[in-house]
Amino acid sequence: MFTTALAQQETTQLGELPLLLFAAIESLKKELNAVILAHYYQEPDIQDIADFIGDSLQLAKAAEKTNADVIVFAGVHFMAETAKILNPDKLVLLPDLNAGCSLADSCPPEAFAAFKAAHPDHLVVSYINCSADIKAMSDIICTSSNAVKIVQQIPKEQPIIFAPDRNLGRYVMEQTRRDLLLWQGSCVVHETFSEKKIVQLKIVHPEAEAIAHPECESSVLRHASFIGSTAALLKYCQNSPTKEFIVATEPGIIHQMQKLAPDKHFIPAPPMNNCACNECPFMRLNTLEKLYWAMKNRTPEITMSEDIRLAALRPMQRMLEMSV
Ligand code: 13P
Ligand code: SF4
Repeated sequence: MFTTALAQQETTQLGELPLLLFAAIESLKKELNAVILAHYYQEPDIQDIADFIGDSLQLAKAAEKTNADVIVFAGVHFMAETAKILNPDKLVLLPDLNAGCSLADSCPPEAFAAFKAAHPDHLVVSYINCSADIKAMSDIICTSSNAVKIVQQIPKEQPIIFAPDRNLGRYVMEQTRRDLLLWQGSCVVHETFSEKKIVQLKIVHPEAEAIAHPECESSVLRHASFIGSTAALLKYCQNSPTKEFIVATEPGIIHQMQKLAPDKHFIPAPPMNNCACNECPFMRLNTLEKLYWAMKNRTPEITMSEDIRLAALRPMQRMLEMSV
């Protein structure tokens, strides 16, 4: 019955469609014994239907713990791949298989293998925003919420390659006061914020605090009174006495910020051009409709070779042990 309603989308009142989808997704969840894990950058409707919303570390931990048979990952490819690395026997679905990540794409496996081979004495710490192939070449994985803590646990004399994000790498260097050999990758979304427009916003909103994700360039980070992962930014806004924030990360997170701190005002940090380039084009490929169809058809599924999975699992487990 629902399928017919969806097929007749054009004649359905637009406002009714999300409600129909919510109901159908809820019933598929029961039928498949599925769990929906969503990242904070997903569209509001997806965040609202999810069983768990989190940052990359929280999502990896939730994927590790789940008893569900099916994991529907509302995020990008490397995140769903991480869930599969941790759950080889579960069906892991990604609503749109093209939901990639510019940061993960900025580190091609062959080039990285050559870089690593040129520095054989270095330990490889890779940010979770990378492909399973890069994870398989790494010694330890980290996320934006534990990168500093992980690097601090490595002996000072041990040289380290940090990949793929140069901005997070530079931030970790500053925080740990140690030298890291950085792979020069970056995120198109976090490099789009305009320092000039943030400064102008601070003049117009003198009471507002700027907060930023460490994937931003140092020209933006220098204006932030708090820097952290998506989950850390959310917690900071809830606990801070400040009532107004300029948020330098993907604006999808503002949905949760507004839900958890309804009395506060959140201003998305503007991009350099008059575009919507502060929205992650990959995250936004997932829609409520695609999520429904992925569950209904049990596809697109995340797959990988067992060799790569096992090689990628080892540094993931090291991260989970080091970030308890
Ligand atoms: P978090 O781990 O902070 O959620 O970051 C994920 C991400 O892709 C940021 O661009
Ligand atoms: Fe990748 Fe950047 Fe999108 Fe995060 S915001 S998923 S790092 S492209």
